[in-house]
Formats: sequence, C-alpha cells, structure tokens
Amino acid sequence: MTRVLHISDVHVEEGFSEVPWTRFLDKRGVGLANLLLRRRRHYADAPRVLAAMAEWALGAKVDVLLLTGDLSALGTRPELRAARRALTPLLETVPEVVILPGNHDVYLARDGAFEASFGDLLRTDLPELAVDGVWPQVRLFGEDLAVVAIESARPNPQIRRSSGRTPQRQLEALAAIFAHPALRGRLTLVATHYALRRPDGSPDSRHHGLENAEELLQACADLERGAFLHGHIHRRFFLQGPPLPLPLFGAGSSTHRGHEGGWVFDLADARAEVRELSCDAGAFSLSEVRATIP
Ligand SMILES: [Fe+2]
Ligand SMILES: [Fe+2]
Repeated sequence: MTRVLHISDVHVEEGFSEVPWTRFLDKRGVGLANLLLRRRRHYADAPRVLAAMAEWALGAKVDVLLLTGDLSALGTRPELRAARRALTPLLETVPEVVILPGNHDVYLARDGAFEASFGDLLRTDLPELAVDGVWPQVRLFGEDLAVVAIESARPNPQIRRSSGRTPQRQLEALAAIFAHPALRGRLTLVATHYALRRPDGSPDSRHHGLENAEELLQACADLERGAFLHGHIHRRFFLQGPPLPLPLFGAGSSTHRGHEGGWVFDLADARAEVRELSCDAGAFSLSEVRATIP
C-alpha cells in the first residue's frame, strides 16, 4: 500500500521581524495589517500543528507528503525559511515529498525566495517532458502512483487580487505526460495550488481563481484514472461525478485553528481510498472512507 498525505495552505506566519520595514510599503503593508489584525489568531499555532501532524504521520506510515502551496503569508525570504523550519518535522518523517508554491509564496515577485527555501525538494522523474524548469514535476512512486505537479501561482501586486494561471506551455505538456508509458496503469494525482471548482461546484471568481481552470480541467479529462488535488480555498472538500471528468480534492487550510488536517489517499490494488485527516483536542485521526477512486 502507498499512503499519501495531502495538506495545503499551512500559512506559517513567522519571520517578519527579519524583514526590513521598507518591504512593507506596498501590498505587503496591507497584507501585514490584515495578518496582524485578523489572521494571526488562526495561524499562531501552525508550527505546533505541523509538529503534531509529523508525529501522527510517523505512526500512520505516510509514504508521500503533497503540499499544494501557501506555505507563508507574504512570501518574504525570512518567512519561507520559517516555513521550512516548521515543516522540517514532517519532511524528516515522510520519505517522499512533492511541493509547489501558492500565490502567497510568490506574493509580489517571483524573486527566487520560494526556491531558496524549498528548491532542493523540486524535482521531476521525467525531465525530458519538463517545459518551465522542473515544471510540470512528474514523480513516480512504487508501481501504482504518479504525481503531476503544475506551477500556476503568480505574483499579484494588485490589492484584492489573488488569481493564477496555468502557463500555456505546462498545459500543453500534459497530453504527452499523461500518455507517457511510465504513467500507464498508475493512478495519477494532478496537483496545483488553485481550485478548479468551488465547494458548491461553481467556478471560482476572476479575482481569486485560476483563469484557465476550464482548460486545465479539460486537459485532465484524458486521464484514465486519477484525481485533481489543490489548496487556495480555505475549506476542505471534494467533488466527484458528472459533469466533472475526474474527482477534485481541496485540502483546505491544514493549520487553520479548528480546521486542522487534510486528505489521506491509500493506494492498493490500483484503487485509492480517501479519508479525511482531522484534529480533535490536539490529536490527529482519520475518518472512515469518504471517497474511492476506482
Ligand atoms: Fe491560502
Ligand atoms: Fe492561495
């Protein structure tokens, strides 16, 4: 059996004291004010939650950790270093990791801050099909599982905009990736930061969602067996069945106080059972099976 833990939007909000004040004379100033006034109480325990999750993952024998972005709040280097420190217990516990940035990790600029803290974890097993550096990442685990990670986040200097876009080259690369013999017979989890649908099944908004969500959904329709995994919407949910060509799983915000957790995929005999990981009084546990991917 292969066990995958999917978490997202851990938003480790530390390290600001190391950021020069001049870096807050833009949208970051608004973001910092929002964070101090509203968000801080939700994420103050994020490092402790991640450490407790690592303890659970050790006992639960998680094989692959999938992180779908928004590791920080304002994407500065000190914050991303703090996020790496907070994630270290999980990274040391789970043997394999697939990671991608969210809009908060490239908040105002694609300046290499994400790669400086997490670049050693970015890799692909099919480099000949990568079109934007390492992207899309293709990772093959055991005999049954493939993970395809797409980088769709982008800086959004405009206040109140947090949308993204799958670069055309990555979108076009998917057909060859899904048809590659190395993926044949494997359950394929496609991951990016943005949701393809909201919890009620409707498209996300122009200012918040993935601009070409429909094109990405259609590109994934060729997948024989798989699911689409994402973050960005801070609510854990899944959608399955027509008219969707494949099931969608949103991990929510895995460290948000009162909503800690994610999704756990257990692959055996070429099918997956999906359970919700949640936290009660500081202890993580799994739900009964919430969905299956045949
Ligand atoms: Fe987020
Ligand atoms: Fe996000």
